[in-house]
Amino acid sequence: MVYKQNTPTLNSFSVNHLVKPVFLIGFMGAGKTSTARRLARVCHVASVDMDTYIERREGKNIKDIFDEIGETGFRRLESEVLNELANADPLIISCGGGVILSEDNRLILKEKGFVVYLRVSAGEAANRISDLSSRPLFTNLESAERIIASREPFYEEVADAIIDTSAKNVYQITKELKSILQREDILCQA
Ligand code: S3P
Repeated sequence: MVYKQNTPTLNSFSVNHLVKPVFLIGFMGAGKTSTARRLARVCHVASVDMDTYIERREGKNIKDIFDEIGETGFRRLESEVLNELANADPLIISCGGGVILSEDNRLILKEKGFVVYLRVSAGEAANRISDLSSRPLFTNLESAERIIASREPFYEEVADAIIDTSAKNVYQITKELKSILQREDILCQA
């Protein structure tokens, strides 16, 4: 008996590699984590989310880390992890929204990787985040607007490319990101 095979043939499976780490930056709710995951799935490259990495390393969620060691303690952990990931084999790295606050972090981002800023408005971010209690610094819309405005110069300073995510879904953002990375020779076919 002959069975039909549904598995992909070798030539329908393209293997890619990254020439340097790709850092996705931007405010909470910009879509960094879902875009990194989707790009990883579509292009067969590896991705990591910095907050998830910190949570696994510390054995606690972000909210508990903020409660126990405050924002200063959290920022120290964030810098350690950024340094580690920036020096590992290249990955798609979705960064926490405040990673650009430290000058040392900004230097690492600029020197070690290709940085893509996913821009989002406070209103759209609030709609996208299902559980705002998991984001200790997202207290209300007005303060989110203020934080975005104060961070904007830092996001722009380190960005090699900017994607405006308003009214776009994760599929559209990923498609845009993929073409930027291919055009810039960051994502190459092996
Ligand atoms: C933060 C963003 C969060 C997380 C922490 C602080 C920020 O990450 O790192 O709550 O300062 O903007 P996401 O941007 O992935 O939500």
